Amino acid sequence: MNPSIGLRPYLPQDASTLVAIFIASVEELAAEDYSVDQIAAWTAPADDAAQFGARLAGQLTLVATFNGEPVGFASCKGVDQIDMLYVQPLVARQGVASALCDALEKLALARGAKHLSVDASDCAEPFFLQRGYSAQRRNTVDLQGVWLGNTTMRKPLAANDPAPPASSTLQ
Ligand SMILES: CC(C)(COP(=O)(O)OP(=O)(O)OC[C@H]1O[C@@H](n2cnc3c(N)ncnc32)[C@H](O)[C@@H]1OP(=O)(O)O)[C@@H](O)C(=O)NCCC(=O)NCCS
Repeated sequence: MNPSIGLRPYLPQDASTLVAIFIASVEELAAEDYSVDQIAAWTAPADDAAQFGARLAGQLTLVATFNGEPVGFASCKGVDQIDMLYVQPLVARQGVASALCDALEKLALARGAKHLSVDASDCAEPFFLQRGYSAQRRNTVDLQGVWLGNTTMRKPLAANDPAPPASSTLQ
């Protein structure tokens, strides 16, 4: 792990900072894969910072820091589903998401999960692929009347839970 990256649990006072990271991350890092309308629909939940913070507080949420400042975050819904994973564009490709996922995978295993799954955005798919997640199915999600594509991906955590074969005909 990049030694300058710190990890800590989410705190209620992080909400507005993480809202800003979420918006910047989607607007800049997902711009090549999604339209302006799709990005607006994706970021709409950030309009209500209190609700956004409540969602993070209700999940296992980790915050990644550089010099104590939040630069990314990840959350797990239940024991075996990554819900959110967002990195500040200024520090992209420096191992922040890798550090967050390393920790989430270890925590999920410790909480009894046999696998971890994620509905990966098109821009995050290469990240999850190189971590050993395989594509299970293609989804089209309706966000306030705007359709977005993503891919359910899954990684076995325990030796007795081999991933089902990746679908050869993703829909
Ligand atoms: C996907 C995302 C979380 C990756 O964060 P990151 O901190 O830049 O990722 P890392 O630095 O840990 O990347 C580790 C490896 O993953 C792969 N990877 C990461 N981003 C990639 C990209 N955009 N294209 C291709 N491969 C990528 C690379 O192999 C990379 O190693 P390298 O930089 O040595 O080549 C980040 O781009 C992001 O926040 N995207 C927008 C929001 C989003 O789609 N979130 C996911 C919702 S499911």
